[in-house]
Amino acid sequence: MSLTMAPEIVRTEVLIIGAGASGLRAAIELAARGKECLVIGKRQHGDAHTGWAAGGINASFGHRDPEDRWQLHAADTIREGHFICRPEAVEFLAREAPERVLELQEWGCDFALTEDGRIDQRYFGAQCFRRTCFVGDRTGRAILQTLVSRAETLQVPWRENIYITALLTDGRDGRVCGAAGLDLERRRPVVFAAGAVLLAAGGYTSIFGRTTSRRNENTADAVALACRAGAVLRDMEMVQFHPTGMVAPEEMSGRLVTEAVRGEGGRLFNADGERFMSRFAPEEMELAARDVVARAIFEEIESGRGTPSGAVLLDISHVDSDTVRERLPGMVARFAEYGIDITRQPMEVAPTAHYAMGGIRVDFADGATSLPGLFAAGEATSGLHGANRLGGNSLAETVVFGRRVGIHLAELETRLPSDGTVEALSRDHLKFLDDLSRSEGRRRPGELIQKLGRILDERCGILRDGDGLRHGVEEVAALREESADLLVSWEDLPQALDLRCMLPCAEAMLRSALERRESRGAHFRRDFPETDSRQEKNILCREGGDGVLEFSTEPVPEISEEIRSALEERRILEYGHLE
Ligand code: FUM
Repeated sequence: MSLTMAPEIVRTEVLIIGAGASGLRAAIELAARGKECLVIGKRQHGDAHTGWAAGGINASFGHRDPEDRWQLHAADTIREGHFICRPEAVEFLAREAPERVLELQEWGCDFALTEDGRIDQRYFGAQCFRRTCFVGDRTGRAILQTLVSRAETLQVPWRENIYITALLTDGRDGRVCGAAGLDLERRRPVVFAAGAVLLAAGGYTSIFGRTTSRRNENTADAVALACRAGAVLRDMEMVQFHPTGMVAPEEMSGRLVTEAVRGEGGRLFNADGERFMSRFAPEEMELAARDVVARAIFEEIESGRGTPSGAVLLDISHVDSDTVRERLPGMVARFAEYGIDITRQPMEVAPTAHYAMGGIRVDFADGATSLPGLFAAGEATSGLHGANRLGGNSLAETVVFGRRVGIHLAELETRLPSDGTVEALSRDHLKFLDDLSRSEGRRRPGELIQKLGRILDERCGILRDGDGLRHGVEEVAALREESADLLVSWEDLPQALDLRCMLPCAEAMLRSALERRESRGAHFRRDFPETDSRQEKNILCREGGDGVLEFSTEPVPEISEEIRSALEERRILEYGHLE
């Protein structure tokens, strides 16, 4: 196989890398405002990770609990983010989510409705009111389909099966002016010349062995591309472990068991039949924050109170079976495939890496990164969720910030580089891809990815400590050396490229986790178990000139008076009727 053929050159005003909800929402805004853009995705069009977000999208309509308002949504987000969320981002999210959800409904998203025809809202963890709007337990899929068809109506062009492997930066002014990569279907290199580039290519939880993501998504593409081009990353140590992932069968291990199961009344039991959350969070029980529930489950399993498969039991069989079928049809069907009737039997579950709260540092008003010409949105970014994301906030994030960056890009004056410029800028990189595709070493990329997953699970999982993290850094460095000895065929070239993104991202995570010498939200260090108010800041990281990662911190801006007084109301979740 050879990739030496001349690359296809594609020109577009705005190149959107990532065809999930954030990228599509930005594209819709651009198209509606008459600006040319092109959406490219690594998978087939319409099959993005958004489709796997199940339980819902947050918006403070107050349809079930009329006292809810955006300020309380913001307060819940900041409190559960352990006070390192960027307050301006939280305010945009909480203020704008209701309008974005109504817009989705207008575009055809079939949200569940209350008896009087308004959008229904369910309980989700650590929120003082029911504010999670939903489409059964396939909310992400329904939103994605809605955005795909809206984009089609607006004739937004797209390309699928494109793996972007480098951003192109104009040497004269440092502006990002395109990207290079591979058309996986046509097996040829492709180079994009663009006036601006939006990275909306997701997070990095596939680095872990146990993750809710499918193997070839959330492989750290966005952070690796941005970091290599010189952009600043933020809070890379912050990874959300979802409390409930599937345990069996092996090929489904880690896959999401939606929080909606607990939002509809599901209860957690250890193998002794004890409803153990009463020891960890007697007020909120199963609807405590994700970091709390994930740690509780982890501790039960570690202490030998798990099932033989290393799980606890999630049981919703006490809820009326018609309600379960209506509200959780996806879960009913998924477990039925493996012989479990969840209306009558419990599910075995254990924590799983779910969402990257760290990522590219952006200005949330417009999605600008630290590099001119480069923008980011969605899970690729960092700062909105702080140290622990509220379930239901990520789908809201995609549409709120996708639209924001779309508006900004539509107004931005863009200047396209010439074909000759992008060809010259991509030449060395395409040569590198060609060499990689013909590597004849001894290590299969998939084998090294599995090794990396085990390292991260062990060293940078739910419980961490300095020694383990330092070992992790060394192990990742050793793996980097091994990765110089790859054996690559066309079939596993995408995995070789994934590995190239995952290795530097893993190092950034481990070293950021070492920098944060405290416990905060999802980042729990056994050697620093307390939260330290002096570390209420964000950790930044960027690649120095010599390729070495450099770390610094930035303070969290002041919270506005309106949100501060909502925080002081100290509302707590009232979910008694689920009992
Ligand atoms: O559990 C879930 O349905 C996940 C939702 C989310 O992460 O926002």
